[in-house]
Amino acid sequence: LASIRVDISGVAEGTQLTVLWQGKPVFIRYRTPAEVEAAQAVELSQLVDTNAENANLPDGSEATDANRALATSTGSDEEGGEAWLVMMGVCTHLGCVPLGEQGDFGGWFCPCHGSHYDTAGRIRKGPAPRNLPVPVASFVDATTIQLG
Ligand code: FES
Repeated sequence: LASIRVDISGVAEGTQLTVLWQGKPVFIRYRTPAEVEAAQAVELSQLVDTNAENANLPDGSEATDANRALATSTGSDEEGGEAWLVMMGVCTHLGCVPLGEQGDFGGWFCPCHGSHYDTAGRIRKGPAPRNLPVPVASFVDATTIQLG
């Protein structure tokens, strides 16, 4: 699979970049502390899909916020280390592109049939069966993310 590198130096906190990768949109969001806190406060028992759906983790990893966020190159323990969220911008229902900062959970909302995703991209309400998938991704350096 072809990799691409994305410069994220221009992405401000509370905004996201959408890039095309392998013909599909990928959302790269620099979450606010409030978005991270909201996602961390959710119990697994509240989730529709308790699988992290993260290609960087072993199958069956739980859908905690830490397992959804992209660890920075220096590890996720540093302040703000869980700020970055990278995931496919493809609704797991029938493939529409969800809209950011919308829906009942402040994350993404798919207007096609009304699926609501939270600030970790986890499905919370509506017909979509799974969390938005996290693709293979990593930090190359502090301002560069590699997809694939
Ligand atoms: Fe997103 Fe149906 S495609 S809710």
